[in-house]
Amino acid sequence: MTLPLIAVLNGPNLNMLGLREPGIYGSATLDDIEALCAETAEELNLAIDFRQTNAEAELISWVQECRGRAAGIVINPAGYSHTSVALMDALSAVALPTVEVHLSNIHRREAFRHHSYVSRVASGVICGLGPAGYALALRAIAGLIAADETP
Ligand code: DQA
Repeated sequence: MTLPLIAVLNGPNLNMLGLREPGIYGSATLDDIEALCAETAEELNLAIDFRQTNAEAELISWVQECRGRAAGIVINPAGYSHTSVALMDALSAVALPTVEVHLSNIHRREAFRHHSYVSRVASGVICGLGPAGYALALRAIAGLIAADETP
């Protein structure tokens, strides 16, 4: 049986987790988050394709590749959340169940982080719960796929 594939996409600077502003982002590395996602996906009978890039164009291409290939997307667009109309358009175009994740609570931070273009097209948004947000996002996607509901 082929398991439904979920793309777990990470944007710029998330490769620096563990080193980067630990007071805000904590001590977990991106490898730790990938391990948590792999463990959660196994429990949920999902396959994951976990990736990170610092480049907006690459992130957009990866979203486009999900069409016809993935059953859902978990995305932490990082800084591009707040700037990228093009990333929002790509997510709209693929029209898959999508959960946006932020490690930090963007609403407790600077005003420029309070708006996310991606949130306009995401099925749901999880922020402020650290790495656990990724596991919760995978659970939410599993539920959306099972119910065949894409809000
Ligand atoms: C982030 C929040 C963004 O505002 C920021 O630019 C990031 C990380 C988070 O996971 O909390 O790079 O997406």
